[in-house]
Amino acid sequence: SDLWLVVPAAGIGQRMKAECPKQYLKISDRFILDITLSRLLDNAPFKGCMVPLNSRDQWWPDSESANDDRIQTCTGGNERADSVLSALHALDGQADDNDWVLVHDAARPCLHPHDLSNLIDTLFEHPVGGLLAAPVADTLKLAGRGAEPEVEETVDRSQLWRALTPQMFRFGALKSALELCLKSGHGVTDESSAMEFSGNMPLLVEGRADNLKITVPSDLGLAEFILSRQ
Ligand code: CTP
Ligand code: MG
Repeated sequence: SDLWLVVPAAGIGQRMKAECPKQYLKISDRFILDITLSRLLDNAPFKGCMVPLNSRDQWWPDSESANDDRIQTCTGGNERADSVLSALHALDGQADDNDWVLVHDAARPCLHPHDLSNLIDTLFEHPVGGLLAAPVADTLKLAGRGAEPEVEETVDRSQLWRALTPQMFRFGALKSALELCLKSGHGVTDESSAMEFSGNMPLLVEGRADNLKITVPSDLGLAEFILSRQ
């Protein structure tokens, strides 16, 4: 089975409060989106890559990736899941149901090539697929429902992981799972949630904690530092 790549890049980066969507901010003079895409495409044997973009995107033509013939684009949707599903629909006819698709956030340029290879090698023979994830390091507090945030209890973190990307699932199964969620109004923020909702148990593949999702302004300096050290 072949490997396909989807990199959702249709968000507007509200929390970054920048003058353009965060995937078009620059680190070392390159768009974050270009760093993310070249890391992925240069380090795994993808058959093809689909990037859902915002319908109002005006920056893509200025990216390095716009001239990369390994990459196709389509129009994304209102939520991340809509964008991913529109990319899967755009790949219909190219990908087989049994092929693997990796979904990776445009806003995660610090993915280490070793984590990418390890995810693919670990899951290639797996029936369902799974995701990169990192064990939680902090002590976790559950707040009560009162007006002030008061600790109700300390949560056992031994079974808790942070969901990262890439997430890797069979093309047909992921498409059906996302369609089911959107149809039934079950909101999901990652591919694994959609697969879980369809009754699957994705495998957690431990990845590096520095696979940061650039979200707020202070993440930019952090990402630049992480990339300079890798
Ligand atoms: N994304 C997408 N389509 C959407 C929303 C998000 O393709 N409708 C993409 C973003 O471009 C990003 C990834 O999904 O690469 C993760 O989403 P997030 O970090 O939440 O990015 P934004 O939605 O752009 O940021 P914010 O939530 O702060 O507005
Ligand atoms: Mg968002």
